[in-house]
This record gives sequence, structure tokens and C-alpha cells, in this order.
Amino acid sequence: MKTINIGIIGGGLMGKEAASAFGRWFVLNDFPVKVVLKAVCDLHEPALDWYRQIPGVDMLTTNYKELLANKDIDVVYIAVPHNLHKEYYLEILRAGKDLLGEKPFGIDLESAIAIQQEGERLGRFVRCSSEMPFLPGPQRVITEINSGKLGKIIEINAGFLHSSDMDFQKPINWKRQSKFCGEIGVMGDLGMHVMHVPLRLGWKPERVYAQLQKIVTERPDGKGGFAVCDTWNNARLNTTLTLDDEAIPMTLDMKRLAPGETNTWFIEVLGTTGGVKYSTKDTKALWTYIPGKEQVWQRTDLGFGVPFPTITGGIFEAGFPDCFMQMFAAYVAEREGFLNGRFGCVTPEEAVQSHEVFAAALESHATRSIVDIKEYAEEVI
Ligand SMILES: NC(=O)c1ccc[n+]([C@@H]2O[C@H](COP(=O)([O-])OP(=O)(O)OC[C@H]3O[C@@H](n4cnc5c(N)ncnc54)[C@H](O)[C@@H]3O)[C@@H](O)[C@H]2O)c1
Repeated sequence: MKTINIGIIGGGLMGKEAASAFGRWFVLNDFPVKVVLKAVCDLHEPALDWYRQIPGVDMLTTNYKELLANKDIDVVYIAVPHNLHKEYYLEILRAGKDLLGEKPFGIDLESAIAIQQEGERLGRFVRCSSEMPFLPGPQRVITEINSGKLGKIIEINAGFLHSSDMDFQKPINWKRQSKFCGEIGVMGDLGMHVMHVPLRLGWKPERVYAQLQKIVTERPDGKGGFAVCDTWNNARLNTTLTLDDEAIPMTLDMKRLAPGETNTWFIEVLGTTGGVKYSTKDTKALWTYIPGKEQVWQRTDLGFGVPFPTITGGIFEAGFPDCFMQMFAAYVAEREGFLNGRFGCVTPEEAVQSHEVFAAALESHATRSIVDIKEYAEEVI
């Protein structure tokens, strides 16, 4: 069986999640390619300790250049602060490796374009991380929409809600400082997750009116004092796109201050003859609108309907580690040419499109105006 050797750069929250997915690769049924985690890099040496327990990992390093020089590595998964994305992603590509880069795929639009163009120039297989759409619910939403049952689309609402900033005593970290996280703030953190499905369905926003909020402006610095917290906490993007020559409203919500929400990804699509909605808040529930004399939303309890079948029973519930693993399976399947029409990871072009929306949103908020997204992107690049 073909084996793909993986290197991870950034062994924090997401590096571990990735290692866990590779470590239980055998749960995928009849998957024709094996992956082996071979090397891990983290600048912070103690972060590497956790990886010592994983069989097969034969390189642990604090220097990513050492990992990139390792001829055995075929694919690099990288999960580091956003200010490092451009430089590191470009180096990975130039070292001859394929790439699964964490979102937002560059700290800003210019960085995302540079990564996309370099991947294309060098002919590397490059994708950006976004795992939530691989859950059974979002997959069924896509099927419902593609079935045409919804008729003419009336409106689309999608979002990703966290309450990670509701703890005002939580010490500052890189995700709450623009110089590391980016001017786009919460949009860089959560926006790609929100836009993956709409963009894949061809729903590309054309105009945006953005409402951005900076609510928490300082946090404990962990040393007894306070540090400035200058990122956007919440973003509501009121966008418009054209479908069948009609202007359709699409709201995209990205919030770190959403009381009561831990990791809520949702989408709602309403049409003239049907509708569909799904939220991870109620992981098993798919809601479909049944048109008729009475107004009916029907609930379907979902099982384990993921794109890449596993040993898990069909009626069991799917969760975060499952969709994260499905995303990697999709990456490998697409790289090896057997995705066969299944849902794939975010392409570099889609990552760039998301950044065009975020850049225009910053401009919209600053000028309190509706911004033409393509026009603005052409102007700033
Ligand atoms: N897909 C998702 O659901 C999801 C969730 C959270 C974060 N992310 C993304 O993953 C990336 C990392 O986020 P995280 O939550 O894992 O952050 P984290 O802070 O938990 O981990 C980042 C790791 O990178 C290491 N690091 C920093 N500089 C480095 C360098 N120069 N070389 C090597 N290692 C370095 C840090 O020591 C740390 O261990 C970001 O792009 C973030 O947006 C994705």
C-alpha cells in the first residue's frame, strides 16, 4: 500500500489534533493510502514531549528548516500563528513538499495570493484546512441544495460562533493581537470555516457591508499586568451575491463573543420550495423545510454519514476529531486522484477569495459603506 510521510510544523492545539487523526488512520475502511507521521517541529521544545509517545515519529526538532530538509517527508501540515504563514508556507513549497496549511492561509490578502501563486508555479498540491463541512450535517445540507428541491434561493445565513473571549480574565495570547493574528482578527480565525461551503457551492459574495466589533480591548498579560487586545472580536458580514440574475442576501457571522456558544458552526439556506438548516449545536439534527399549507420544519436524526466510510457504526454520532480526520482523508484522496466527486478541502483559490471578502469587510467597516469586493481587491493588490 502506498504510504505518505507527514511532517507537522506547529505542535500546539491543532498539531496534536492532526497527529491524533494520523494515529488512527486504520479506522478508514478500505482506504488505499496509508499516512505516517514522521517528523514534528515546534519552536517551544517542551511542546515536542507529547509527540514522543507516537510510534513512527523519528524526528522532533525546534528548527523547521531541519524538517523541511528531511527527504522522507512528502506532505507538511502546518499550524502556526498567522504572521508566519506566508514565509513558512512558501518555504515548505520551495522545499519540494505538498502542503495542508491552516487557515487563514496568510495573515492578509497579499500573503494568501503569494502562497497560492507559488504553489501553482511549483505544481505542488496545496489545500487549506477547514474541517466542519466534513461532518454528516453539512454534507447533507450540500446534498439538499444540489438536489434543486429548494427552488429559488431566498437567503443564506452561515456562521461560526465561539465564546472563547467571554472569559475576560483569560490571559492574552497571539490570537488576540493583530501583529500575530492579523488586522482581520476574528475573520481570520473563523471566516474560512464559514465560507468553505458557500464558496464551494459557487456562492461568491460580490458586495459587503461589514459590522465589526472590538469589545474586549485589554486582557491580563499573565505577569500581573494588562496587555492591549486589539483584534476584532466579532464580525457580521452582510453580503450580496447574484443567483439567476437576482441579488441574494447572505450573512456571514464570525464571533468570539457569542454568549453560550462553544464551537457552533451553522448554515441555513431558504428557498421558495424548500429550506435546509444545520448547526453543530445539535449535532445530529438536520432540519428541512416542507412546503405546504402548514409551515413545517422536519427534523432528521443523522448518523455517521461521512464522505470516507470508517469502522464507526452508521447510527453513531460524529464529532470534531471525526471531521478533522475526514478532512485529511479528503486531502490524501484528492492528492492521489481518488476523491471521485466527494467534498474536498479548501483550494488556494477559495482561500484567496475568502481574504478578498475579509479585506473588503475591513474597508466597509472603516468607511461605513458597501464595498464591491472584486473591485476593492483589484485596487489594493
Ligand atoms: N482548523 C481549526 O479548527 C483550527 C482551530 C484552531 C486554530 N487553527 C489554526 O491553526 C493554526 C495554529 O493554531 P493553534 O490553535 O494550533 O495555535 P497554538 O498556539 O496552540 O499552537 C501554535 C504552535 O506553533 C508553535 N510555533 C510558534 N512559532 C513557531 C515557529 N517559528 N516554528 C515552529 N513552531 C512554532 C508554538 O510554540 C505553538 O506550539 C492557526 O493558523 C490557527 O488559525 C485552526
